[in-house]
Amino acid sequence: MGTLDENDPFGYIGLTYDDVLLLPGETDVIPSEADTRTKLSRNIEVALPLLSSPMDTVTESRMAIAMARSGGLGFIQRNLSPDDQAREVDLVKRSESGMITDPLTITADRTLAELDDLCAQYRVSGLPVVDADDVLVGIVTNRDLRFVPKDEFATRLVRDVMTKDGLITAPVGVSNDDALALLARHKVEKLPLVDDANRLRGLITVKDFVKSEKHPDATKDNEGRLRVGAAIGFFGDAYERAGLLADAGADAIVVDTANGHARLVSEMIKRLKKDPAFAGIDIIGGQAATRAGAQALVDAGADAVKVGVGPGSICTTRVVAGIGVPQVSAIYESSKATKPAGVPLIGDGGLQYSGDIGKALVAGADTVMLGSLLAGCAESPGELIFVNGKQYKAYRGMASLGAMGSRERKSYSKDRYFQSDVSSDDKLIPEGIEGRVAYRGSVSQVAHQLVGGLRQTMFYVGARTVPELQDKGKFVRITPAGLKESHPHDIQMTVEAPNYESH
Ligand code: XMP
Repeated sequence: MGTLDENDPFGYIGLTYDDVLLLPGETDVIPSEADTRTKLSRNIEVALPLLSSPMDTVTESRMAIAMARSGGLGFIQRNLSPDDQAREVDLVKRSESGMITDPLTITADRTLAELDDLCAQYRVSGLPVVDADDVLVGIVTNRDLRFVPKDEFATRLVRDVMTKDGLITAPVGVSNDDALALLARHKVEKLPLVDDANRLRGLITVKDFVKSEKHPDATKDNEGRLRVGAAIGFFGDAYERAGLLADAGADAIVVDTANGHARLVSEMIKRLKKDPAFAGIDIIGGQAATRAGAQALVDAGADAVKVGVGPGSICTTRVVAGIGVPQVSAIYESSKATKPAGVPLIGDGGLQYSGDIGKALVAGADTVMLGSLLAGCAESPGELIFVNGKQYKAYRGMASLGAMGSRERKSYSKDRYFQSDVSSDDKLIPEGIEGRVAYRGSVSQVAHQLVGGLRQTMFYVGARTVPELQDKGKFVRITPAGLKESHPHDIQMTVEAPNYESH
């Protein structure tokens, strides 16, 4: 590929996924042996290069939990109030862990109805009971509720049913092996961790051990909690929002705007990077689509750069504004700024098939961010839609009228498209559309097919690791006839494949 030269606009042709293929090379790599680990950002590693997009039809806590368990990572959408978004982050951080450092608790004077609500909200099966000084006074689990009639829940109190005698606890800092032995010996499911004054300092649960064994590739922090990212803007309450997300335990915050090549975006990144409240959180900047745009984000101190202006399946930026760079070229150009700086690059949007992941990585990306490929999963927000016996889920652009307008609720997504100052819905300029995608089952099934495709790419290229793929992969440009030949042709498909849908 040549270089995109603003002074020679017609000397360069921007290419996207359908314009290129990767060359097969000499190989002794077996797909199942390929190592798909890569970097999301300066300090966060993922086992799979897959991220879910911060969109209101793609990522809330359920999707983020499923993505992190699979070995990727989800970014909680920001078309929510700051409190609600922080709550989604909190749900992910509490969902699975070696030790829960800040366990959810209840006091003994609460009713069983309140206990039941809390357990349902956080999908937990019981809680430690503490007094006003955090001293552990008991534990209440499903077992204690089993024989209490439901109609007594509103009047009976936690203190009436909780287990308080012979509580099994361990000191803070207990090893995983010792904790597991204690849980097994006493046949209990939850092990509260206490300090010298019997104050509750943590909790270890059997369920978390089982989950850890079931999800060996899960993306976790140093404390064994699932990792999660979240999106913010650069306008209004964005900084306060970032603070709430940090308090809730977000591992990465992306300053997510339609054009990251803006002074206010750089300033927001610099401010976050300087503030000790965000130490330990990777700050990501986006979007870039040119070398200069990516360089501005690198110079601001971003820990990763997100690339993509207009490639998304629901985007209309390229036709409404006439702006964008075809995605493979956008990644390639942006990587000229990120690579020398050692800053990971996220290829965001435009992927239709698993084969596009390898193309993005060879072009210069370290991970890819997906919208449409994940919106049809069971874990995305929203209900199943039935049309003529087929199952779908809603999917829409964050610059669609539905997401930016006030039709459903207060919108928090307008500033991504620099339209916060537009007060009336009929004056908004949408840059996205609303629609639906086919239901695809669980994230684990979808991720299995996507990464399976990448493993095949790595076998064909002869690359054992992602850096090797990035190094060895070579492109060939193809014509529309070549693209036609790539897809099934001269046949009517009679059986659906789990990894192929004709568009
Ligand atoms: P895919 O192709 O995976 O793309 O569905 C998802 C990405 O598209 C971006 N996005 C938008 N871009 N108008 C746009 O121009 C929109 O309304 C819009 N909504 C999302 C975003 O980067 C996402 O990750």
